[in-house]
Amino acid sequence: MNEPNATPILVADRVQMTFASADSRLEALAEATFSVMPNEFVCLIGPSGCGKSTLLRILGGLVRPTSGRVLFEGRPLTHPLRRIGFLFQRATLMPWRTALRNVALPLEIEGVPRAQAEARALEFLRLVGLEEFAQALPRDLSGGMSHRVALARALVYDPDVLLLDEPFAALDALTREQLNWELLRIWQARRKTVVMVTHNIQEAIFLSDHVLVMSPRPGRIEHKVPIEIPRPRSLDDLYSPQFLELTRTLRAYLR
Ligand SMILES: Nc1ncnc2c1ncn2[C@@H]1O[C@H](COP(=O)(O)OP(=O)(O)OP(=O)(O)O)[C@@H](O)[C@H]1O
Ligand SMILES: [Mg+2]
Repeated sequence: MNEPNATPILVADRVQMTFASADSRLEALAEATFSVMPNEFVCLIGPSGCGKSTLLRILGGLVRPTSGRVLFEGRPLTHPLRRIGFLFQRATLMPWRTALRNVALPLEIEGVPRAQAEARALEFLRLVGLEEFAQALPRDLSGGMSHRVALARALVYDPDVLLLDEPFAALDALTREQLNWELLRIWQARRKTVVMVTHNIQEAIFLSDHVLVMSPRPGRIEHKVPIEIPRPRSLDDLYSPQFLELTRTLRAYLR
């Protein structure tokens, strides 16, 4: 899918992070180096506390690394960009705003007139299959629906890169599977680059072009595993020998 000489959209160049306070220092990330090509789907897995969320926040320009740098389209990233969307583990919607107005919020903050912001928000609610719930308040949405609203909100700027930090971890297996499909569909239809943190090995294999495996804290990228299962993928792929082999490999790497 990528041109042979295309430049990476995102590069982590020896990104290192130490959290220091008056009486303690904690090295969260050793040097993490990798690159992501445009339109790639990359999953990041690693033991709890190895620095995945820290790395993702650095990739989003939300946090500056202690040393090293992030390049976005070849240029150093120093602050959050609209072209990089973020979805956190917990879908935090404004409880008093309808689904529609939650999705419209980032646009309203930018000063887009309300009618225009809502028209665009509606388009993205449609994309995640929640058009009919535009006027619902968060308390009337299920957990999975709230996550879809949060996904729509992350997509409303139509970012080129989507950084997802265990976005569906709190959901039951079936809802999660459904949202993964949704994500694959959006990724394919809108040609995004996705970097997603997950603890779920099967999910990582199913979604990714390659999986980055991190070491225990302080995290570094220990393995880059290409996933050469042809697309479009189907649930039957979960039972293929290739899939099982990859599962075994990744599980061994995580031990
Ligand atoms: N703002 C912070 N200040 C101090 N220490 C921090 C901060 N953020 C993270 N840490 C520490 O850095 C390490 C890595 O944290 P991080 O949240 O990146 O791990 P993680 O891989 O995302 O873990 P999990 O899989 O449990 O979500 C942890 O030891 C954590 O306590
Ligand atoms: Mg985390």
